[in-house]
Amino acid sequence: MKEKWWHDLIGYQIYPKSFQDTNSDGIGDIPGVIQRLDYLSDLGISMIWICPIYCSPMMDNGYDISDYTRIDSVFGTNGDLKKLIEEAKKRGITIIMDLVINHTSSAHPWFQEACKNPEGEYGKYYILRKGKNGQPPNNWRSLFGGSAWEKIEGSEYYYLHLFTVGQPDLNWENEKLRQALYKMINDWLEMGIGGFRIDAIAHIKKDLTCGNLPSDGPDGLCSGMRYFRNVKGIEDYLKELKERTFEKYDCFTLAEVDDIPEERLEAYIGENGYYSTIFDFCHCFHNCLDGAWKGRDKEMLLDVRNRVFERQKKMEGRGFFCNYQENHDMIRIPDRFLPKEKQNFYSLSMLPVMYFFLPGIPMLYQGQEIGMTGFWREHIEDYVDLATHNNYQGYLEQGMTKEQALEKINYTSRENARTPMQWNDGPNAGFSDGMPWFAVNPDYQKVNVEKEQQDNGSLLKFYQKLIALRKHCVYQKNWVYGSFTALEEDSDQLWCYMRCRDGQRLQVFVNMSDEWVTTKGCYDGKVLINNYAALSQKAGCLLLQPYQAVVLAVES
Ligand code: GLC
Ligand code: CA
Repeated sequence: MKEKWWHDLIGYQIYPKSFQDTNSDGIGDIPGVIQRLDYLSDLGISMIWICPIYCSPMMDNGYDISDYTRIDSVFGTNGDLKKLIEEAKKRGITIIMDLVINHTSSAHPWFQEACKNPEGEYGKYYILRKGKNGQPPNNWRSLFGGSAWEKIEGSEYYYLHLFTVGQPDLNWENEKLRQALYKMINDWLEMGIGGFRIDAIAHIKKDLTCGNLPSDGPDGLCSGMRYFRNVKGIEDYLKELKERTFEKYDCFTLAEVDDIPEERLEAYIGENGYYSTIFDFCHCFHNCLDGAWKGRDKEMLLDVRNRVFERQKKMEGRGFFCNYQENHDMIRIPDRFLPKEKQNFYSLSMLPVMYFFLPGIPMLYQGQEIGMTGFWREHIEDYVDLATHNNYQGYLEQGMTKEQALEKINYTSRENARTPMQWNDGPNAGFSDGMPWFAVNPDYQKVNVEKEQQDNGSLLKFYQKLIALRKHCVYQKNWVYGSFTALEEDSDQLWCYMRCRDGQRLQVFVNMSDEWVTTKGCYDGKVLINNYAALSQKAGCLLLQPYQAVVLAVES
């Protein structure tokens, strides 16, 4: 594989609204990110993905953009972003922006024009269709619940919105629209950002020939996914997008795409793929609080291991996944992977070791490094996210009581990962001097950055060590380019793998269970990291304590 500048990045995702507020309006901002750059630099990360900060009515927290060229005043100014890019650069950190080009906000001037004149120039920027007998053009369900079509007042037309009603989908068939997007992308790249995280890009092509589909829910609608995700022909757009923009700047691109057929993986993230990397979604639907895996945390972790390893084997030497456990769209990893009573330093610190040393780009989400978790709300009104409220309504329609629906929301709402960052034990956890837009987790006196900075045995310090090990000059090339071999695959309690390169063998051992487990194989080597004080061995085998995680190095 040809070496590229972005291969060894270690990413950190910032949800700006909840990171650090500097002007007491209760909302995080860009000056807040700048203020915390030293913290991030000490943590050791080398790339920041910042969720959308463009002008937006914030119906979907910035994923509904009304002006692609300007920063929303709530977050700061274009000048602030420039300063952030420069300050980050001084610390060896590259900034990547969120690129939302499947849809705009309904407040975008293009859409406003389209509504005034659906048959005019801007009508062609969106996906507008006439209704049928007073009904929407088809019965697709929006990904966030309800019909995916909304009527344009005073016309016969409906517009398609795969996400909230405030996010009309763009019409990629229109060359003019594509040109406008490419120009916007290139302007940002000119400003010096390192690249983009690309939102919802798997949906830019739609197959609208299908008409009404058999309903799959009490709402009479149908998910329709196969008609608007990774639809055949999408590659023409992806190729053009890459050639007209990203490639010219040799930038880093990280795409949100799930479920790519295996035979297309190489085209997407191979040496000359459309993107540098994509998120690996294979663990996203695993949650021990809810659904098929409810209460089955042990089997669930084993299933995650098998899926992750299978993917790694398929991709080996051909391309990179972005490996992560948390983001702003899922509940936090301790809650997703471990029952509350099993959450402790050992279990929380073994979690990142599972994925941090796999081939690929490791990514953290703000607060993951201190072990932030979600907390229960007693009222649905305590949630702000529209998708969460739509889901709640959906659960009621399915026949759940209000209590049951709220419980499910508490177990699953993505907004649980969006509580303000816990910096210290002061008012509002040091996030803001004002009234935070969303309640701080009441556990902030126990779980916060300042406290963990003062404690050498804290989770934060452990993450620091992990990152330092990933970047250590003796091992870095192996972590990035070494081969991947699964170890101890017969065990249903262990998550172990080996990375090899030029006679160097790095072995990662994670005990995912709350019991002692002995390895079948014999291993030795220098201990590079260990979340316990000691490592026991018996006749060459490792005796791993509950949730023990160890990395061993052997040089030949
Ligand atoms: C992506 C984002 C999510 C957003 C959606 C619509 O899935 O991660 O937060 O709501 O796209 O833009
Ligand atoms: Ca603010």
